Amino acid sequence: MHNQETLLRVEHLGQYFKSLKAVDDVTFDIKKGEVFGLVGESGCGKTTTGRSVIKIYDITSGSIYFKGQRICAGTRSYEDAIRNARRRLAQMKKTESDPAVIAQKRAELNLVIAENRRQIKAARFDHQHSDREYAKTLIAKVTEEYQQAVAACNDPEQLKELKIKYKNDLRVAKKTKLITKIQMIFQDPIASLNPRMTVREIIAEGLVINGIKDQAYIDEQVYKILELVGLTREHAGRYPHEFSGGQRQRIGIARSVIMRPDLLIADEPISALDVSIQAQIINLLNELRDELGLTIMFIAHDLSVVKYFSDRIGVMYFGKMVELASSDELFAHPLHPYTKSLLSAIPLPDPHAEKRRTRVSYNKLEAHDYSVEGPTMREVKPGHFVYCNTAEEEQYKKELGL
Ligand SMILES: Nc1ncnc2c1ncn2[C@@H]1O[C@H](COP(=O)(O)OP(=O)(O)O)[C@@H](O)[C@H]1O
Ligand SMILES: [Mg+2]
Repeated sequence: MHNQETLLRVEHLGQYFKSLKAVDDVTFDIKKGEVFGLVGESGCGKTTTGRSVIKIYDITSGSIYFKGQRICAGTRSYEDAIRNARRRLAQMKKTESDPAVIAQKRAELNLVIAENRRQIKAARFDHQHSDREYAKTLIAKVTEEYQQAVAACNDPEQLKELKIKYKNDLRVAKKTKLITKIQMIFQDPIASLNPRMTVREIIAEGLVINGIKDQAYIDEQVYKILELVGLTREHAGRYPHEFSGGQRQRIGIARSVIMRPDLLIADEPISALDVSIQAQIINLLNELRDELGLTIMFIAHDLSVVKYFSDRIGVMYFGKMVELASSDELFAHPLHPYTKSLLSAIPLPDPHAEKRRTRVSYNKLEAHDYSVEGPTMREVKPGHFVYCNTAEEEQYKKELGL
């Protein structure tokens, strides 16, 4: 279904709100074409992770790469390293008397400072550079497409149309920020749609922001997208309050896919909907995934929703990624006790089994002994990562029969 090309890479992401580590040293990547499920209870940092990826927040530390470009980097860890080095330098001067040792240590610490300064500069450069590089590749692509179409066309009317299309495409290419290729849809379709805007205006907003003024072109795109998400062009002139919850979520999806994103972050898109229409929205996302070649990061607070939909799943607990594996692997061989607890919360379709189902609770302090060695993310089996220490890793490997 999908190749192994990495579309998004989140590396050591940290997002702190003052002292609260909403996301703490989280690493994962999303392959082109896959659905990546991000699961964990309310408040564990899923939305913050998604919002960091679309740059709603400046990140505290780590890097995020999208389509091979580093789109954001947190400079705090580098700034901390510089501050630490300076502190050590000052301390050393107080306690050390040998000038040779002082000179040596100073040289070492200056190297650390220089390296971290370099990292900060590189982060800032990448931040600006990524859009420019992306615009260049887009311009090259639409120009090539246009030239090929022109070469294959000998109808003057059609040539005129091609030229108009090329002009619009070029305008989009020049203005398109790489970040618009990541779009997010939200849990609450009511709060996320401006009640004073028509459906047409809501859906077209991204195009307008990108400098498109040709109303006929905009209308055509809006109608196309409306049909794609299961609505009709007659809906374009109406206002959000005239629609049901499921239809509003379709409008939200239309607004995000009109930008032709490569990555769609769906933040609990069905949690606020009636159970009867949840499946419809999941089906729609599945269709769009095929039709538009979308890659999806699907956020949910329980595993039952993502089970059949995700290729791989990451489980978060209090700002940490605690387990990451393919969907099949995670359900067949869950290792982290928190994942086991989440799994035990899923009702079973078979009534007999459901009767026997017991919920396992998770208590971080009881479940782990990190007094001697703390946990890190470890690959206990190819593609199966667990946040654990050496003793736990050995135990997990035994559980897997390795
Ligand atoms: N803008 C913010 N300012 C301060 N704290 C925040 C902010 N956004 C989220 N948080 C806190 O960060 C933690 C993670 O929140 P969130 O990412 O929304 O979790 P989830 O989406 O998994 O329910 C929570 O403790 C939340 O209260
Ligand atoms: Mg959330």
